[in-house]
Amino acid sequence: MIRTVFAAASAAAIVLGVGAAIAQQDVIKQRKDLMKANGDQAKIAAAMAKGEKPFDLAAAHKIFATFEDAAAKMPNLYPANSKSEEGSPVADKFSPTEKVWTDMADFKKRFAKFGNDAKKANATVKDLASFKAAIGAIGKNDCGGCHHDYRHENKS
Ligand code: HEC
Repeated sequence: MIRTVFAAASAAAIVLGVGAAIAQQDVIKQRKDLMKANGDQAKIAAAMAKGEKPFDLAAAHKIFATFEDAAAKMPNLYPANSKSEEGSPVADKFSPTEKVWTDMADFKKRFAKFGNDAKKANATVKDLASFKAAIGAIGKNDCGGCHHDYRHENKS
């Protein structure tokens, strides 16, 4: 009887362990996918700002909406068991720095600011001049500022 309980308990532990590993890879993939989407939209934004692509208000709205969506979802994608991306099938040259977990309150505050800035831009941008000003500020203060402190570029 005791042995059966024991066997059942360790089977449950194995199942839970595997579940945790899958969940960890899942959040890493989710946060990277959201950031890659930001990166794709930022490329379109840069092309419009430089005049390589004509200014398009619908495209501008999509850019800011993508940023807002990422800002809303990202803060929940850094559980303690997702610190190391080593061995993850989705690991690439970018990974979060340890500061994400030692300064989580500030990290989350940056996402809140990023979301607010994107929302405000989405509501106010009307033309190329206002678009350039908004995207320039977001790129420097939000994307650039956060990456400086919280994104590690692995040198491998
Ligand atoms: C509050 C913090 C924060 C903000 C704001 C932020 N990022 Fe990131 N970004 C990160 C972190 C941390 C990573 C590392 C990936 C991870 O956490 O797994 C990252 C990774 C990336 C990557 C690499 C994704 C990959 O793995 O290939 C791109 C591209 C990127 N960000 C673009 C942007 C752009 C563009 C903006 C602004 C429009 C932005 N990010 C705003 C924190 C931020």
